[in-house]
Amino acid sequence: MTHVSKHPLIQREITVLRSTETTSAAFRDALRRVSQLLVYEASADLATHELTVTTPLERTRGHALDRPVILVPVLRAGLGMVDAFLDMFPDARVGHVGLYRNEETLEPVEYYGKYPASLETAVIFLLDPMLATGGSAVAALRLLRARGARDVRLISLVSAPEGARALEAAFPEVPVYTAALDRGLNEKGYIVPGLGDAGDRIFGTGAETR
Ligand code: PRP
Ligand code: URA
Repeated sequence: MTHVSKHPLIQREITVLRSTETTSAAFRDALRRVSQLLVYEASADLATHELTVTTPLERTRGHALDRPVILVPVLRAGLGMVDAFLDMFPDARVGHVGLYRNEETLEPVEYYGKYPASLETAVIFLLDPMLATGGSAVAALRLLRARGARDVRLISLVSAPEGARALEAAFPEVPVYTAALDRGLNEKGYIVPGLGDAGDRIFGTGAETR
């Protein structure tokens, strides 16, 4: 269940994110804007219930979300998506999962985890801009499932077919909302054409970041 957005504004922002001309400051801005658009797409089917609201003129029907929302960014790069989601879900609680890829084996290494209570009743948005081999997303989902999480949606900016397939094989029920599905992975496990190392580009830590 990989939803690839065709929204023109998302495609415009992804182009900014891909460009080597884009500085870290501009990258963070574009990441926030594209995340705001992805929130909209990834939340279109959230269940609501009716309630009564009193306007200055009369009582009428309104709607509220059925279930609480929890955001879980994958450190580091997922942090760049959190504020956009909090703009739309100001009451959301936020968990953090720390994972990095071993650069030789490409296997994810867990180094941090802190999660809110009641994962089992919440709608959880797992935030990570890059779905490459899928190792990190699968590891994060295993950690969430082990703590009772049921309804999890993965929000990614750029995905490789290899990662989408790995996720589908491990968690066929988890929808992925992505801004782009790229050609594949290179010999170092980077998405091509991709946008490089997302964490480095957000935080200005790469040798080539501007
Ligand atoms: C990046 C990215 C994902 C992971 C994707 O993180 O943010 O978490 O790689 O690759 P995968 O699908 O092959 O697992 P990275 O390991 O570079 O850590 P960082 O964000 O701390 O730089
Ligand atoms: N992680 C990234 O940040 N970029 C890639 O292309 C692959 C993994």
